[in-house]
Amino acid sequence: MRNITLGNITQAASDSFAGLPDARRRELMQQLVRHLHAFARETRLTHGEWQAAIAFLHRTGDISSSTRSEFGLLSDVLGLSSLVDLLAGQSGATPGSVLGPFHTAGSPWKDNPVDLTPGNPGEQVLIRGRVLGPEGQALPDASLDFWQNAANGLYWQLDPSQPEDNLRCQLRVDTDGGFAIRTIRPQPYQIPTDGPVWHDVVGPAGRTAWRPAHVHVIVSAPGFRTLVTELFDAADPWLDRDAVFGVREPLVLACQVVPGLDVPVMETDFVLASLFGEAD
Ligand code: BEZ
Ligand code: FE
Repeated sequence: MRNITLGNITQAASDSFAGLPDARRRELMQQLVRHLHAFARETRLTHGEWQAAIAFLHRTGDISSSTRSEFGLLSDVLGLSSLVDLLAGQSGATPGSVLGPFHTAGSPWKDNPVDLTPGNPGEQVLIRGRVLGPEGQALPDASLDFWQNAANGLYWQLDPSQPEDNLRCQLRVDTDGGFAIRTIRPQPYQIPTDGPVWHDVVGPAGRTAWRPAHVHVIVSAPGFRTLVTELFDAADPWLDRDAVFGVREPLVLACQVVPGLDVPVMETDFVLASLFGEAD
């Protein structure tokens, strides 16, 4: 197009992606252009603001590495990661929640029930429940990938005083879909405050850096949708101000004293959606 104007630039930029052979990718790019342009039009974005945004993205890239994703953190604090989790939710299934940066594939397999507490100070707790299908049926082929922070609030990757793979494991459920993890009560934790996401986005808004105490779980079973989620401690003071918007009421568990058990229990079932249920 030879005469690009305010009136036709959005259509021209969108149309420039019409040749993408993959229909979904085409839709994503064309909608991205439309929404970006709408943002600029509605806010009357200035040159100075646009340059500041580009400089911010440069800083975000500069601090990122194979072990630190400042872009992932940006997505988290804007609520985008959590929105994608919510959009993927299936009715009747346990809600998903933020994966976060501290999952690494290949945690050690442990026997179920497992005791992760050896070597860890802190209040002990038993996290137990069952993995079920949408009709309430036990899923005996399910497995869990579990990770959490230590009593000092740190995940093992950021704390040389912890052994590798501290407070994380994979385990298979029993024939009733049951699992039991003896662990320590997780601690509230701050998102990184030494990068541009904190300095330029979160901090200036007067927001908190805290995430309420939680454990992470990935629950999978053949034929069912993999669930990436978190469990939160109902006693945590930051539940209504999670820096990354991960809290969902069904994931908030009270720590309860159970007669006959020497540690309090956080109890929940995980309900997985069928792979052949609702569309994505
Ligand atoms: C976490 O759960 O550990 C986490 C999630 C998002 C950003 C930073 C940390
Ligand atoms: Fe976490």
